[in-house]
Amino acid sequence: MSESHESKTCQNLQSAFAGESMANRKYLYFAKVARQLGNEEIARLFEETAHQETGHAFAHLELIYPPDELTVEKILEIAIEGELYETNQMYPEFERTARQEGKEAAVAEFQEQAEESRQHAEMFEQAAKRFKALTLVEAFHAKRYQKALDSL
Ligand SMILES: [Fe+2]
Ligand SMILES: [Fe+2]
Repeated sequence: MSESHESKTCQNLQSAFAGESMANRKYLYFAKVARQLGNEEIARLFEETAHQETGHAFAHLELIYPPDELTVEKILEIAIEGELYETNQMYPEFERTARQEGKEAAVAEFQEQAEESRQHAEMFEQAAKRFKALTLVEAFHAKRYQKALDSL
């Protein structure tokens, strides 16, 4: 289901995942606000509900990206793709619109976050390279070990 976004259900899963994810972050933010406003009980209610929203979001993710189809390479690749989309497409477009509309705070935030997305992409790319190198080293060691075993 992860590869094709053709079916309506795939699109609905993406939307449901987005909604549950937003609810999670929104409720954590509301918990912080409630705490600042001095209402600990409401803060805790929002935090507990936020954790449940994470469970809901994860349930959708398991259908979008079935765990048995994933590898370390694959998840890094998906993450890099997302971060690059943000830094190269999404934020530049949002920034342009914010500038046209004279929303200076949004312009600054979009610029800042485009840069952070670029850093995230880079970090994941480096991790992917390290992982690949490590896999090669491990394969090398396994081969040498096997040779040693064979010569016994
Ligand atoms: Fe939910
Ligand atoms: Fe990011």
